[in-house]
Amino acid sequence: MKKKELQVVNSVEEMIEISSTLSGSSKIGFVPTMGYLHEGHLSLVKEAQKQTEIVIVSIFVNPTQFAPTEDLANYPRSFERDLKLLEELEVDYVFFPTEAQMYPADYKTYVNVEEIGTLLCGKTRPIHFRGVSTVVAKLVNITRADFMFMGKKDFQQIVILEQMLRDLNFSTKIIRCDIVREKDGLAMSSRNSYLSTDERRKALCLYQSLLLARKLFSEGIRKASVLKPHLKELIEANDGIIDYIEFADPSSLLSTEDLFSETRVLLAVKIGKTRLIDNMNLAE
Ligand code: PAJ
Repeated sequence: MKKKELQVVNSVEEMIEISSTLSGSSKIGFVPTMGYLHEGHLSLVKEAQKQTEIVIVSIFVNPTQFAPTEDLANYPRSFERDLKLLEELEVDYVFFPTEAQMYPADYKTYVNVEEIGTLLCGKTRPIHFRGVSTVVAKLVNITRADFMFMGKKDFQQIVILEQMLRDLNFSTKIIRCDIVREKDGLAMSSRNSYLSTDERRKALCLYQSLLLARKLFSEGIRKASVLKPHLKELIEANDGIIDYIEFADPSSLLSTEDLFSETRVLLAVKIGKTRLIDNMNLAE
């Protein structure tokens, strides 16, 4: 059978026109991405297809969420390959704007979710979530998304964007999707492509330390200060440079000393030059 035609839209105006026409009659599912797609991204697309009638995927490496010292220029890109993957899945629309379309020369407006955006990744990436909130607010307006499908891999990103959608009275709802992992447990990420063979092996320590946290919790440890050194030791034994190991309340993302099943363990660790993140709750 012939595959459904995928339409690539480059202009903001055209995307708005298409989505406004569709939004009256169909539920629109939206999957924002920065491209270089892997199975994690594709799982969001599949979930969107299950739950909504029209699926729009955006591919845009958003410059405002990268600090000048970060990897914007080197961020991996593979548009042709991404398009093939999305065609295979019979996605309806790919929104692939240029930077000038999204941020014209006279651009002035930023959306900042206070407090939550300064915790965890916000400490070492102070402008990151302002860029994420800004671009996602724009994308949600442009795509008229009813539901936005996002991965728990970026747990803080979801919590911040849910707050933003609530505060600014967007009617879009986020559907939280599970983390897709490689066979050995490493969370899939476009940035895994930066890892050498040796680093790829060491990178497994993030997942292993989350499992260790679960194991020690199941054995009765209920204090973050007791658990943390065990995780630190495992990561450092693999040459990981710890940005943070946090035990946080899953709604506020504030650190907590007392541990519960739903407490979120969140990690950011550098393996060589590559900064990786992962997270898990302490028990199902
Ligand atoms: P990106 O890193 O491309 O991720 C796009 C979406 O894929 C996010 O919702 C992310 O959580 C999800 N994702 C990434 N790896 C995953 C995995 N292993 N399992 C499940 N989901 C995974 O996140 C961004 O882009 C940007 O910040 C964006 C929201 C597009 C704004 O620019």
